[in-house]
Amino acid sequence: MGTRFLPATKVVPKELLPVYDTPALQLTVDEAIGAGIDHVVLVSNRAKPSIEAFAERASGGARITVVYQDSPRGLGHAVMCAREVVGDAPFAVMLPDELLGDSSHLRDLIAEHEASGKSAIGVKRVPRNEVSAYGCITPQGVPDAMGRVGVRDVVEKPNAVDAPSDLVIIGRYVFGRDIFGYLADLKPAAGGELQLSDAIGASARTGAVNGVLVNCSRHDTGTPLGMLTASVDAALRRKDVSPTLRTWLERRLST
Ligand code: G1P
Repeated sequence: MGTRFLPATKVVPKELLPVYDTPALQLTVDEAIGAGIDHVVLVSNRAKPSIEAFAERASGGARITVVYQDSPRGLGHAVMCAREVVGDAPFAVMLPDELLGDSSHLRDLIAEHEASGKSAIGVKRVPRNEVSAYGCITPQGVPDAMGRVGVRDVVEKPNAVDAPSDLVIIGRYVFGRDIFGYLADLKPAAGGELQLSDAIGASARTGAVNGVLVNCSRHDTGTPLGMLTASVDAALRRKDVSPTLRTWLERRLST
């Protein structure tokens, strides 16, 4: 709903706010295309007609389909809304408020799914006091040299003291169609929401989920400050604006 970004999101959905000069959602679509994905399904709601306009005009070459989640019933429910369009093929779920610097992590997840036949989910290590903002995994041992680790279970937003590990889910997943079966069996959690993490947990308890550590840079654009640092980072990576921005920042920070 973008409430953290009010008043910016009174008219513009947060997905279309710019990261420097590019709508945040375009960066996620570009990440998908860079990993070889040629069909993107956006789960949106009807109160955001500009998402449809984006889908019609987005650049990059992927086919974009918009489906609707008419009430906010959780991430698991949002994934279910795409079921018909996705069909039986393996698919990725990407949460666009996690911005990754490139497509390498998604490529790793796809490769892991293709090699093992299991669901592959992106994870990273965070300080213990940050675990409660995320889905958290119970790992099977420690990650191997490639950063892969078996997932025994998943718990959504645990208290720091109860958390099974400091490995959290970063919003990139590759699933086979079996995940839809687990989603269909879910009982709604607090607030009537269907949690994707609960479906992954059920699958993990049968040994069918692997985690892969993320290596590339990452920004949480779910808050205005995260959006700002993502913009500054994007501008600092660009040859055309980086020198001017750097000079301005240095002068500004020294006064
Ligand atoms: C969602 C997921 C959570 C995951 C997080 C990553 O939570 O439910 O498991 O760790 O995204 O950003 P949200 O941030 O939507 O509350």
